[in-house]
Amino acid sequence: MARKADALILCVPTPLNKNREPDISYIVETGKAIAPHMAKGCLVVLESTTYPGTTSEDLREVLEAGSGMKAGKDFHLAFSPEREDPGNPGSALAEIPKVVGGYTPECLRKAIALYAMIVKTIVPVSSCRVAESAKLLENIFRSVNIALVNELKVVYQAMGIDIWEVIEAAATKPFGFMPFYPGPGLGGHCIPIDPFYLTWKAREYGQNTRFIELAGEVNTSMPEYVLHRVSDALNERRAAIKGSRILIVGLAYKPDVDDERESPSYELMDLLESRGAEVSYYDPYIPVIKSTRRHGRWAGTESVAWEREIVESFDLVLVATRHGSVDYRELARWSRCIVDTRNAFKGIPLPSGKLWKA
Ligand SMILES: NC(=O)c1ccc[n+]([C@@H]2O[C@H](COP(=O)([O-])OP(=O)(O)OC[C@H]3O[C@@H](n4cnc5c(N)ncnc54)[C@H](O)[C@@H]3O)[C@@H](O)[C@H]2O)c1
Repeated sequence: MARKADALILCVPTPLNKNREPDISYIVETGKAIAPHMAKGCLVVLESTTYPGTTSEDLREVLEAGSGMKAGKDFHLAFSPEREDPGNPGSALAEIPKVVGGYTPECLRKAIALYAMIVKTIVPVSSCRVAESAKLLENIFRSVNIALVNELKVVYQAMGIDIWEVIEAAATKPFGFMPFYPGPGLGGHCIPIDPFYLTWKAREYGQNTRFIELAGEVNTSMPEYVLHRVSDALNERRAAIKGSRILIVGLAYKPDVDDERESPSYELMDLLESRGAEVSYYDPYIPVIKSTRRHGRWAGTESVAWEREIVESFDLVLVATRHGSVDYRELARWSRCIVDTRNAFKGIPLPSGKLWKA
């Protein structure tokens, strides 16, 4: 297959290993697999999110060694980050500008010619490393801003101020402000992971990434904060986490998707269970939990059915993801006590003491 291809686009996973360091083995192994079959003059583009230098150093070396050809001379090499917004129906591939960096000017020209066939706007940059860095900046920007509102959520909560109302008011400013929203922790396979690719590479240059580390610290402390709020809510009802039946609503890491990789809901389920709660979940997109590397303990667990008697049987409902298809008015009526991390009950009247924001 690779032998006949004029262009090869690699978009393999780039996770962190157990020491939270970049694991580029998928890129390296894929490079090794395709190298012996690459045709002279072909174009290889890496799209995986990764640290600066991966394309022009790590991948190039593997491709050159396996093919016996030289990048920029016998084949072309480029980096163009994948930009996708799963669950957003407005994010059509052709409409999302594509950043492209080439190993040489000719590599860039070839990569532009390829993507111009499918994408309306190409954003050429001077090197693969700039394109890799741009993608990291995009994700670090999100991570840091989410951490900021998560921190403010805790501070304002202590002051009796609702962060959601504060953000809504601030977002009316027509310039210089972009709203980010708090949550029970970071999820997905990009924002919690990618920033640490830069942290790792920066060390090679004797540089620290304090914003990234701090954002990571704040964001990873969120499930514990939610746990405290659950504990407070139960305490008001003369109950404890131990022995309580708790329903997590929303297992996916973001609204309206069926992807639960790195979802903070797992963290919440683990924490609650370790404190002695009996935990179930409801997610219309995930009827049963598949086997995962990190949360194998939950594999095979099924979503509860959306029925009044079932929801009523729980001591507390914890909303972790705000799916558009969930009927929150119904949930408000059926639940005994609610902890809401997503402002899902905005505008829904509830008796005092029933709703706890977290
Ligand atoms: N999915 C997104 O929304 C998104 C958005 C922007 C960037 N990215 C980046 O794209 C890359 C891929 O992420 P993903 O979530 O789409 O990954 P994924 O888990 O969906 O896998 C992507 C592809 O890689 C293949 N693959 C898995 N292991 C492989 C191996 N050992 N050898 C060859 N192919 C293999 C899979 O079959 C799949 O087709 C990551 O670097 C991620 O950061 C993803």
